[in-house]
Amino acid sequence: MSICQDKEAIDVMVEEAKSYTQYGKVADYIPALKVADPDMLSLAIYENDETCVTAGNTEETFTLQSISKVITLALALMDRGEEEVFSRVGMEPTGDPFNSIIKLETHSPSKPLNPMINAGALAVTSMIYGSSIDEKLGRLLTFIHEITGNSSIRYDDTVARSEYETANLNRSLCYYMKQHNVIDDNVEHLLELYTKQCAIEVSCKDLAKIGYVIANEGKHVQSQRPIIPLHIARILKTFMVTCGMYNASGEFAIRVGIPAKSGVSGGIMASVPYGVGIGIYGPALDDKGNSMAGMKLLESLSQRFDLSIF
Ligand code: DON
Repeated sequence: MSICQDKEAIDVMVEEAKSYTQYGKVADYIPALKVADPDMLSLAIYENDETCVTAGNTEETFTLQSISKVITLALALMDRGEEEVFSRVGMEPTGDPFNSIIKLETHSPSKPLNPMINAGALAVTSMIYGSSIDEKLGRLLTFIHEITGNSSIRYDDTVARSEYETANLNRSLCYYMKQHNVIDDNVEHLLELYTKQCAIEVSCKDLAKIGYVIANEGKHVQSQRPIIPLHIARILKTFMVTCGMYNASGEFAIRVGIPAKSGVSGGIMASVPYGVGIGIYGPALDDKGNSMAGMKLLESLSQRFDLSIF
């Protein structure tokens, strides 16, 4: 049976997963994220035929945070090509927390190990073409509008400022990389762009569509027109598997087995090759920064509908 025809079972899974929100905690290192409702859990699914299952309050919007890293990687790869991008950022999982600096110091050359950790994502953002912060951000938003078909998507200035003002760990990653010639940018400019990128506001439905396009070899939901080249869509899915849930990626691959990317706002975007995109919002996080109930929900969905790619 197609996932979208089994709404009843999905509602039960969402209710069951919701009970796990009590074991998680809303991110507070970005002050503006503290106001999120920890009990919330919502879900949207896109399938081949565009039918969509939703559960919970899918009108609620939230910021992409680290999920944006997948989209900026696509754009940077389209702008600069694989050779240049991977000369500045590696392809290996770290096993460390997303904001760790340790591998920059202990690895030689000092380039970030992958584009999903903060250091790697900052390096990727620095490679997006454009002559100003506004132009680069504008290109990113236009790309997201194209993927989702939702041209009302913007960034949340309060969240962006809140992160910019407190992002001293990310600042230190940037200065470290600048010293080692991984980035050349003015650090404050790069942080402004990165925090705005992370503050792009979406709903679960938007997230499910982005997940669907990546799952569907980069082709547009309705028209099947290519938006992301196939080889890049493959790279994105691979990073989602190996690094998408940070130092929980191994366990997630075993328990769930779906390419996915989380963000500290509580979003998870998942891409089941080739026909399913999933968007989840559950702001109570586990100790690795992944949505507590969201992870449980994906595990149930994967088991029930046999979604593991392995
Ligand atoms: O750079 C940061 O710390 C945040 N803007 C994004 C981190 C994040 O979402 C990690 N994900 N689970």
